[in-house]
Amino acid sequence: MSTSENLMAAFEGECKAHFKYLAFARIAEKEGHREVARLFRAVAEAEAIHALAHFNAMGEAGDTEQNLMAAIDGETYEFTQMYPAFIEQSDKEANTRATISFKNASEVEKVHNNLYSNALENLGKNKETEYHVCEICGNTVAGNAPDKCPVCGASIDKFKIIKD
Ligand SMILES: [Fe+2]
Ligand SMILES: [Fe+2]
Repeated sequence: MSTSENLMAAFEGECKAHFKYLAFARIAEKEGHREVARLFRAVAEAEAIHALAHFNAMGEAGDTEQNLMAAIDGETYEFTQMYPAFIEQSDKEANTRATISFKNASEVEKVHNNLYSNALENLGKNKETEYHVCEICGNTVAGNAPDKCPVCGASIDKFKIIKD
């Protein structure tokens, strides 16, 4: 494999490790192993640093206008093709947890697509806003958090604010 393929493989592997360790940290916390939870979170943080370094070494990111367009393409692919196919399959297998997870994500990718499209339209106009992210389904809201998440029904206290 070429180095650029190896960088992609390493990037994907480190991304997976990052999130797997965060999931493991939550389990360790629930089981009362706080010291292990902390270790998983520390290593997860390190894997994120590795993933970013590999990504930067690939040199594939563009300027912000190009990156917004790439992000729009990615989100559109997910909610128009990838998730609909995945949902069809998980429905066939009656895998409810997978279906809920795919449906939440698919619904929210549409939202992301809109947010990115607005940002592209307004690029350079310095239209600032805060965002709120639902910690249950990932719904992403510009401005104030809603009383109830329109995607998953979670209450307002489940929204995490994103600012600088
Ligand atoms: Fe998304
Ligand atoms: Fe939600």
